[in-house]
Amino acid sequence: MTQSEIIVAVDYPTIQKAIELAQSLDPESCRLKVGKELFTRGGPQFIEAVHKLGFDVFLDLKFHDIPNTVAAACRAAADLGVWMINVHALGGRRMMEAAQEAVDNSSHVPKLIAVTILTSHSNGELHEIGLSGSAEENVLRLANLAKNSGLDGVVCSAKEAAKLKQEISSDFILVTPGIRPAWAEKGDQSRVMTPREAISAGSDYLVIGRPITESDDPQSALLKLIDELAE
Ligand code: C5P
Repeated sequence: MTQSEIIVAVDYPTIQKAIELAQSLDPESCRLKVGKELFTRGGPQFIEAVHKLGFDVFLDLKFHDIPNTVAAACRAAADLGVWMINVHALGGRRMMEAAQEAVDNSSHVPKLIAVTILTSHSNGELHEIGLSGSAEENVLRLANLAKNSGLDGVVCSAKEAAKLKQEISSDFILVTPGIRPAWAEKGDQSRVMTPREAISAGSDYLVIGRPITESDDPQSALLKLIDELAE
């Protein structure tokens, strides 16, 4: 298993492009994140194909449903042999505990993390759906709930990483998107951090998509990122 902190977000509309990207990357240098679009198109066969190429997979399906259904989905995801899966913390304690129990009883145990508040939500939207307080307060409360429900960590903004490491625990895994090296386009991400800033702030794993996937030479872009981290 690779020791790399980098998880490449494979956000492509076709399986062929996704496989070509995987073939161009070295599984010793990164893991892959497979989300809803790609999994809906390629399903377990796509996961099997990238496993055969040697990659660890973060299956980013963000399950959110009644505890029994989420537990069953987590069991099915664990059976795919993936390295990491996730659920929505807003599903609540019983849902997260059921998910963790299902994972713990699987023959292959993936890391289980939670999404707290989607970074696309403004404070106004949170209030509209009935959540009071700021996004930051909600993130901290839900991350604590995920920890107390037995989960391994959360997806969070690197801007929140230092506070979460300090207030929850140093071994609680923080997976952070919104990462941009200084040389890359920001795209639609607004609150970005460089890979080194994110790791210094306490991120354990960096989810990086377009700076690698839209590069003419994804493996070189990945190696450039790794070199920057090692500097
Ligand atoms: O291309 P880019 O590096 O922006 O990709 C980031 C990845 O992380 C995408 O798959 C995106 O959906 C995901 N993500 C995010 N912000 C979140 C949660 C997930 O950018 N809060």
